[in-house]
Amino acid sequence: GSGTKAEPRPAVVTVMGHVDHGKTTLLDSLRRTSVAASEAGGITQHIGAFEVKMPGSKRSLTFLDTPGHAAFKAMRARGAKVTDLVVLVVAADDGVMPQTKEAYSQARECGCPLVVAISKCDLPQANVEKAKQQLVAAEVELEEYGGNVQVVQISAKTGAGLLELEEALILQADVLELSALRDGTAEAVVVEAHLDKGLGPVATIIVKGGTLHVGDSVVVGTLWGKIRTMKDSTGTPINSVLPGQPAEICGLRGVPQAGDALLAVCNEDRAKRVSDARAARKMAPMLQVPHMNGVL
Ligand code: GTP
Ligand code: NA
Ligand code: MG
Repeated sequence: GSGTKAEPRPAVVTVMGHVDHGKTTLLDSLRRTSVAASEAGGITQHIGAFEVKMPGSKRSLTFLDTPGHAAFKAMRARGAKVTDLVVLVVAADDGVMPQTKEAYSQARECGCPLVVAISKCDLPQANVEKAKQQLVAAEVELEEYGGNVQVVQISAKTGAGLLELEEALILQADVLELSALRDGTAEAVVVEAHLDKGLGPVATIIVKGGTLHVGDSVVVGTLWGKIRTMKDSTGTPINSVLPGQPAEICGLRGVPQAGDALLAVCNEDRAKRVSDARAARKMAPMLQVPHMNGVL
């Protein structure tokens, strides 16, 4: 397109739910990967962001895999609004647990449409009816009881119900009519960042508007940088990222925090000056601490 008018973008879908209820395994089966099996202790330690071309609709969705709910909470506390939809995963053998309720109340607070995936339906001890009753008791407004929350029964092991889940998500995404400008300076949100021994600071970001390019000068919180390399969620090097898409970026001068906003600016000089000004503003309140009067 011309880039000056808003164009459709992939929905960003956060997968939430109680520990070990099958969030990562669900994403693995959608992506045909095996991340869950290689995780230390089988526990997700960081937010992963994956763009998946959905097998039925051939549409792209960007999924965020969360470790329990803690990191999502931290991001929300920092004002990051990156999620469009939430998949609440509830294991059929375990039912509604404390983190299920937490996740639900967070989804409700952010006002995101929600789809419930009752997972592990292949297990002999699966009890879908019981899980549904527990959801109703937790005030989740299920469609079959006149509410607007669709429930899909799935098994990440057998693949059962995955197409139905896709349909539910695409339907919700279509209702939201998600679009963004591809033109102009990129705006993104940091979903995860760490220091890599070889690469230096590495951040996973999702673009909210504009197009982020290799070589762009950026400001992230009080840090700055120049994008040296980018990879898509399959690890393939890329040169640009569009709205709704995730990427792993290198070239920042420090490790940002989850929820930090990233802004592309016209050049390195500008990036340095904006980040310096932000850092100075952050320091300013310290100069007003009464007991420090006369010291500085
Ligand atoms: P955390 O990231 O630690 O919160 O866990 P998670 O929700 O990502 O769960 P994970 O995908 O790590 O799965 C937990 C366990 O459940 C693993 O042993 C999976 O193999 C198993 N599991 C996940 N989905 C299914 C399923 O559909 N059927 C069966 N039988 N087992 C499943
Ligand atoms: Na796990
Ligand atoms: Mg996980």
